[in-house]
Amino acid sequence: MNILVAFGTRPEAIKLFPVILALRNSRDFNVTVCSTAQHREMLDQVLRIANIEPDVDLDIMRPNQTLPQMTGRILSAFDRVLEDAAPDRVMVQGDTTTAMVATLSSYYRKIPVDHVEAGLRSGNIYSPFPEEVNRKIISTVASLHFAPTPAAAESLRRESVPKDRIFITGNTVIDALLKTRGKIDDAVAARGLADNGLPPLDDNRRIVLVTAHRRENFDGGMERIASALLKLAEREDILIVFPVHPNPNVVGPMRNRLGNHPRIRLLPPQDYVPFVYLLSRCHFVLTDSGGVQEEAPALGKPVLVMRDTTERPEGVTAGTALLVGTDPRRIAEEGLRLMADRVHYQRMSRAHNPFGDGRASQRIINVLADTAGYRRQKESAL
Ligand code: UD1
Ligand code: UDP
Repeated sequence: MNILVAFGTRPEAIKLFPVILALRNSRDFNVTVCSTAQHREMLDQVLRIANIEPDVDLDIMRPNQTLPQMTGRILSAFDRVLEDAAPDRVMVQGDTTTAMVATLSSYYRKIPVDHVEAGLRSGNIYSPFPEEVNRKIISTVASLHFAPTPAAAESLRRESVPKDRIFITGNTVIDALLKTRGKIDDAVAARGLADNGLPPLDDNRRIVLVTAHRRENFDGGMERIASALLKLAEREDILIVFPVHPNPNVVGPMRNRLGNHPRIRLLPPQDYVPFVYLLSRCHFVLTDSGGVQEEAPALGKPVLVMRDTTERPEGVTAGTALLVGTDPRRIAEEGLRLMADRVHYQRMSRAHNPFGDGRASQRIINVLADTAGYRRQKESAL
């Protein structure tokens, strides 16, 4: 089977590298890797660590890109890729513009699309924006739906996706996380962070790890998050570590408000290995990220989710994640509670993996191999 794997952003690369490596290890597949490079530096960071060099790089990222610009550029460039590579199937992951447009483009050429991390829904088309609608478009077109959890599979069934097209696999982010965590040399990781200006992580301060980038948080949300961090940083036993997304809508407000605080460290986006190390060393996480919401419970770290909705309710249901929105008072209140209330902290830091067990990639490959085998048998019978 000739399979083309398409991605463009940091989280897609993190969640697809274990699948690409497994596909390459199997005799059933010829793999073409296409990066739209919707992200540039943040994507290259992951590809370097995963040792993946794309066969095609569309290099589409522009500073402060808009959704229509990005959509148009990917659509025309990806069609040419499909024409040249003529794959039997296309694989996409998640909910980005790259994933949605690669799906649409494949549909125009009647090439089946398989969707990794299918079925996540918040129920609100403007939150996350535009990811909720991207996912719905992909589900409408996709051939095989790899749902990470039973709840995601149920959402797809409710939307009339045929049952025999839905496979519960777990989320490949847990494959990536466990592979990476297992290989980290703590001393090397700590030295790398010290090179980034971080004080030793074993002093008495508790680390609060922060990430933020969602488009629906641009309209005042980033400023409100900054206010909450300033409030939290009034505690002398806190060190806020914040690898800042390079989007100008994030960097601008965060540098302005938080740039010079002695207990807040703004860092550039971290390579996956030091980021996982930070996750494993922090006290709790404040984030609006999808992937970080999935990784933190696996490492037993409480997560305060700075959003009004989540399409990943499993962490909230299990009690390790809490939706706190972007009201600065609420974020600070819940953060301070995690600092002060030991029993509450222990309840929220129960390590568990509602999102996967580290074997999602292999399950996906098995389903695809069955599809390939089925096709070969059919052809030889003709
Ligand atoms: C995108 C995805 C989002 C995903 C996020 C992961 C869409 C619509 N959004 O959002 O679903 O959660 O990636 O991070 O697909 N930039 C750089 N260097 C980089 C990456 C980004 O400078 O390596 C800057 C550029 O100015 C770029 C801007 O960030 O224009 C926004 O990038 P974009 O991919 O449009 O949006 P994200 O917020 O990253
Ligand atoms: N991540 C990373 N370095 C960082 C911040 C995040 O490697 O400085 C990883 C994180 O572990 C997770 C993924 O990036 O796997 C999440 O990406 P992001 O928050 O950009 O996107 P989302 O998951 O919200 O789509």
